[in-house]
Amino acid sequence: MNQSHRINHRNDELIIALAKGRILKDTLPLFAKIGIKPLENLTISRKLMIETTNPQVKFLIVRATDAPTYVQYGAADLGVSGKDTLIEHGYTGIFEMLDLHIAKCKLMTAVLNEMDSLPDKRLTVATKYVTSARSYFADKGIHADIIKLYGSMELAPLVGLSDCIVDLVDTGNTLKANGLKPLDVVLEISTRLIANRVSLKTKSMMIKSLLADLEKVVAIQP
Ligand code: PRP
Repeated sequence: MNQSHRINHRNDELIIALAKGRILKDTLPLFAKIGIKPLENLTISRKLMIETTNPQVKFLIVRATDAPTYVQYGAADLGVSGKDTLIEHGYTGIFEMLDLHIAKCKLMTAVLNEMDSLPDKRLTVATKYVTSARSYFADKGIHADIIKLYGSMELAPLVGLSDCIVDLVDTGNTLKANGLKPLDVVLEISTRLIANRVSLKTKSMMIKSLLADLEKVVAIQP
């Protein structure tokens, strides 16, 4: 008999959408500290819906940019997502609950090494972070034409697609490897716990309890 993989939302269950990649690496230890560990080895498993040591909690493993969407539509009650992604998503149907202080990095402008500053002209900017970039340049009164890219933004100035980029900088190694240098900080980024606005009402006890647990471990992080 076929086992159904379809999820039936239960009122006594919390579904949490976790962003893959570097955020996930920092998120799992945080949940482990409050007793919620995946029952699968996520480095090996290809499963995307994961039971945990807490029978009331399930993890969904999603692309970082999709985490807010799962929460917006209530497919997940809670989510873990970077501030950069949340700003681009626009927070529709989503409430930001807690700064988890993990996966910290900076959203920065960057230019070719040989440039000391942004060129003094109408700028072309390549970025995945269109909303953040647009508001940054508007605040500075700089006229910027934004070109949306989905990755490998460092290439854009090298091949003449843009004058500068707006991208996440952690170690700075990616910029360096591509002959670019960071200029200004657009936004300090960290990872946030988000909630679906309806789940906040219908599952308020469970969410409050998980939030209280997370607040304790976030507070004692170095
Ligand atoms: C980010 C960002 C840079 C890189 C910066 O990409 O877009 O490419 O990390 O990190 P560094 O300063 O430590 O070199 P990410 O690996 O998150 O993947 P993405 O290209 O899918 O956004």
